[in-house]
Amino acid sequence: MPSEPLPEHVAANRAFWDDYAPRWVEPGERSWRRQPGEETWGVFGLPEADLRLLPDDLAGRDAVELGCGTAYVSAWMARRGARVVAIDNSPRQLETAARLQREHGLDFPLLLGNAERVPYPDGSFDFAISEYGAVLWADPEAWVPEAARLLRPGGRLHVLTNSLLYWLTTPDEDEAPPSDRLVRPQFGGTGRVVWPEDGSVEFHPAHGDWIRLFTSAGFEILELLEPPVPAGATSWFMAGADDWATRWPVEEVWKVRRRS
Ligand SMILES: C[S@@+](CC[C@H](N)C(=O)[O-])C[C@H]1O[C@@H](n2cnc3c(N)ncnc32)[C@H](O)[C@@H]1O
Repeated sequence: MPSEPLPEHVAANRAFWDDYAPRWVEPGERSWRRQPGEETWGVFGLPEADLRLLPDDLAGRDAVELGCGTAYVSAWMARRGARVVAIDNSPRQLETAARLQREHGLDFPLLLGNAERVPYPDGSFDFAISEYGAVLWADPEAWVPEAARLLRPGGRLHVLTNSLLYWLTTPDEDEAPPSDRLVRPQFGGTGRVVWPEDGSVEFHPAHGDWIRLFTSAGFEILELLEPPVPAGATSWFMAGADDWATRWPVEEVWKVRRRS
């Protein structure tokens, strides 16, 4: 059967992430080395003990990572006993993931595909997660209902992405730090933005949009975290944001549950 053409933003993001993949090899290797209890999240490496993004009862559960990149989150879930499936849109990111699987002696399916259309039947998973994956790079009008479809009733979806405030205060220039001014509009679709320099496409829904997206897809909202960063902490990724991040949230975490 001929495969369907990729939506325009998915094709653009595949090209972008294939080019960008070499930059993610070293952080991926570092994260793959973290053992249960040592997992950290986001651009400041906040500890799992504070964010609790991984459910306590993962052992024996079916889990999917939507936009896995080098798949270290999937590795963490597999080490905690979950049956994991990892999907990503970039062949080059998955090459790194496959090499790290071999080096660490772990084996779970690494699927090349779009998290907006995952080739698994309804109700295949107990848990879904995305850290800066589909949650940032896929269209939420498509991937949120898809996550709801994939989860069993009672199954949870946990995501971590840029905070709304970070997004609204960060200028367009590549890797510019956030400022103390609102430099972007909040209104307009689900925060879809096309980066002028490379054509990649991100999505930054506002909080009201997330609430609508989650509830209309059949989720109940459990928690919105805007985690503080400890004074003196340094981001491994976001240059110039350290002082800003002690006053405002750089990231947000949503935890939602599929209604029964
Ligand atoms: C920043 S990485 C996220 C993985 C990891 N947590 C990390 O932070 O390195 C973003 C990943 O999202 C993937 N991605 C972008 N759009 C996607 C889509 N529609 N479906 C699946 N994966 C997608 C990219 O290929 C990339 O590997």
